[in-house]
Amino acid sequence: MAFPTETVYGLGANALDSAAVDRIFDAKGRPPTSPLIVHVSSIHMAQLIVAEWPSDAELLARRFWPGPLTLVLKKHAKISARVTAGLDTVGVRVPAHPVALALLRAAGVPVAAPSANRFGSISPTRAEHVSASLGERVDMILNGGATEVGIESTVLSVASDYPILLRPGMISREQIEAMIGPVSVDSTTPATGGHVSPGMHARHYSPATRLVLVGPRDALPAGHGAYVCISMPRSAGRVIVMPDTPDQYAAALYRTLHELDAEHLDWIAVEIPPDAPAWFAIHDRLMRAASR
Ligand code: TXA
Ligand code: MG
Repeated sequence: MAFPTETVYGLGANALDSAAVDRIFDAKGRPPTSPLIVHVSSIHMAQLIVAEWPSDAELLARRFWPGPLTLVLKKHAKISARVTAGLDTVGVRVPAHPVALALLRAAGVPVAAPSANRFGSISPTRAEHVSASLGERVDMILNGGATEVGIESTVLSVASDYPILLRPGMISREQIEAMIGPVSVDSTTPATGGHVSPGMHARHYSPATRLVLVGPRDALPAGHGAYVCISMPRSAGRVIVMPDTPDQYAAALYRTLHELDAEHLDWIAVEIPPDAPAWFAIHDRLMRAASR
């Protein structure tokens, strides 16, 4: 069933049941080369599905769980290769959403769940987005209203001696480094300008409408006196003003893209947000959305 988390809606199945996990891939049209995140209700339950629980995992889980941080760890043998796309590691997180936690506690099993959308399209931040994308392909959708964070969790590998940021999210690299020291960033992350390796798909999180990035925005004299922004005329287009804090921008981003996609426009132009660490995950998603 589909369920809300604080990031995006997930499409969940019993992570210990391979037939159930296969149905996730069918419903999403997802290639079996993409590993799934396993959701659990506690640190204790996370420890039961991994082979090793290093001290970095303990520190980060205590600080950020429940919350939008996925830890990649060596997997326990009971987690099937179907869940992890054949990798010997598994992504685990405790979501910070009362409905997700209630589901996990009632199920009593770890729940494998990717975002609840057809493969390659924008993640759902409302139950309506799930039904529009997956419709009859899901048995049930738990409607928890709009999600708060709005973009997918930060994915961090702590499976080796060197922690690696695999997907930026609203828990930033800087927040993680404050807990465990230096973290390297996977060079295949679009926001670092790298190319993309198998299993990490550049054109992911994309609206159907062509999206182009414009800008970057020049620094405005925020908070210091009155000013006027003189904009070039937009021939036939209109302008949507997004929130100016990263948290609020992230929360609104996918809903805005879902709504604009439904208008069947020719293209969507997005002004590149500020070049600051707190905006890194948003840059990443916009670059993925713009790549064809
Ligand atoms: O916020 C989220 O993470 C949402 C909610 C539902 O929890 N889930 C989500 O799942 O975004 P999905 O399947 O759309 O993205 C999973 C990401 C992918 O980038 C995948 O490569 C990475 O997590 N991942 C999962 N397991 C991994 C592993 N063992 N090693 C490396 N990366 C892994
Ligand atoms: Mg996804």
